[in-house]
Amino acid sequence: MNYSRFINAVSAARKPSPIRVLTAILAKSPPSMISLASGAPNPKLFPFAEATIKLRDGSKLILDEERMNVALQYGATQGQADLVNWLKDLQNILHKPPSAGMKPEAGGLDLIVTTGSQDGLSKSFESLIHAGDNVVVECPTYAGTLSALRPIGCNLLAVATDHNGMIPDSLEEIMSRWKPEDAKHSECRIPKLVYTIPNGVNPTGASLTLDRKQAIYKIAQKYDLLIMEDDPYYFLQFNKPVPSFLSLDTDGRVLRFDSFSKVLSSGGRSIQGREELLQWHYADDEYLTYEHSSDDEIVEPKEDEEEPPPPEVSEAIERLEVMVGDLLHQWGMDGFKEHIKQVVHFYQSRKDIMVNAAKKWLSGLAEWDEPVAGMFLWLKLKGINDTKKLIEEKALAKEVLLVPGCAFMPDPDAPCSYVRASYSLASDEQIDQLQSTVLHIHHQLRPGFGDSFARSSSRMIKIISVKVPLMPVNTLVILATGDLRVAIDERIQR
Ligand SMILES: Cc1ncc(COP(=O)(O)O)c(C=O)c1O
Repeated sequence: MNYSRFINAVSAARKPSPIRVLTAILAKSPPSMISLASGAPNPKLFPFAEATIKLRDGSKLILDEERMNVALQYGATQGQADLVNWLKDLQNILHKPPSAGMKPEAGGLDLIVTTGSQDGLSKSFESLIHAGDNVVVECPTYAGTLSALRPIGCNLLAVATDHNGMIPDSLEEIMSRWKPEDAKHSECRIPKLVYTIPNGVNPTGASLTLDRKQAIYKIAQKYDLLIMEDDPYYFLQFNKPVPSFLSLDTDGRVLRFDSFSKVLSSGGRSIQGREELLQWHYADDEYLTYEHSSDDEIVEPKEDEEEPPPPEVSEAIERLEVMVGDLLHQWGMDGFKEHIKQVVHFYQSRKDIMVNAAKKWLSGLAEWDEPVAGMFLWLKLKGINDTKKLIEEKALAKEVLLVPGCAFMPDPDAPCSYVRASYSLASDEQIDQLQSTVLHIHHQLRPGFGDSFARSSSRMIKIISVKVPLMPVNTLVILATGDLRVAIDERIQR
């Protein structure tokens, strides 16, 4: 494939930074190498010496002085070599990409660790899309992606979805506004990429079938589209996984975004794709240094802290990579799989509780498809034209928070009768209470149903303060914040 058509003018102008090239050479050099080239500070002056992290299984993860120095120091742009290699092995086991054996230099696959699937998505969008481009997304789709795309000034083309995710006929119908040859003309506004969430769509909980993936891949081949496969719920699938787009990718048109956010902790994710498409990540020192620089603001963990640190703090842990890399090596592939089993079991049982509560309270008043992955139930409230007002006024007054469906729509102003309910953190009682409150509000908004509902809640459902039971990391000794990464992440609403 010729990737030059996909990369926008700003990204095409990026050149590899000489300093970053040397950093990569140094990372692969023997310890005997004397380097006066690096602009890295001397870690002996960093006040953090060692850390012991208690894991939930009772074992410990120890960052000795040497590992701590690595954790605090500037590192290779691609990510810690150990972690990168571990992730490549994992990807090869899970996805068996057809091009796995090819060297990156020969156009094969490569992998980069980013500070978020969101981070990787935003950078990819900013590297690939020009203002005015047509971009294909599914409808509904992840609100964070919409937030990243809208400021670029692109035109969002919405593909219809159902309980099996994106509908290939709808994609074909959108693409048929152009001829496949249009892809050869740079001035033509034919879409260059399609963005999709293949498993446990946020917000619908739907997953693509293999047939659909194959049909979508064929359409992508016909119109020369890149497929951006955003798969943070891969490890939260309740049924046997079907092959990913990456597994089907014989051409090199898939950029795959993985995330550990839902299974280890936020802050560690990877992008996999053709080397040319990841070049922007290696290119410009100015552009990149924010990834590994820090303003060294220290957040002291409080004793008996009940709440997990706010997202911007956990996001900013400078060397979460070292912690995650060491944990994965300590666990090995089998330990990781064992952990994933527990995660799947947990979310599946939460999903059952959510669906049972919906059946109990909302049968006849709402419609839903049972989620097959992920952490969300997508409810269509019958007879309610737009849920925004319902959430902002009625639900809030009842101390219940749900996300109105319009947050996931390419056109946010169109009325939407859906709401998204998350089953990841709420207790059984809270889920039950939440659904019954929806019923209550529904009755209020639909005259004629009467209001027989007697229970009312006096307590806000404190979703954010509930402890996440599955994260293996129990005690964080050092939390560093303040780098520019936070500014980037904050720009993007979750
Ligand atoms: C579909 C989708 N993509 C990306 C993300 C962001 O993932 P990360 O935490 O790895 O940035 C989310 C998070 O909720 C998501 O639902």
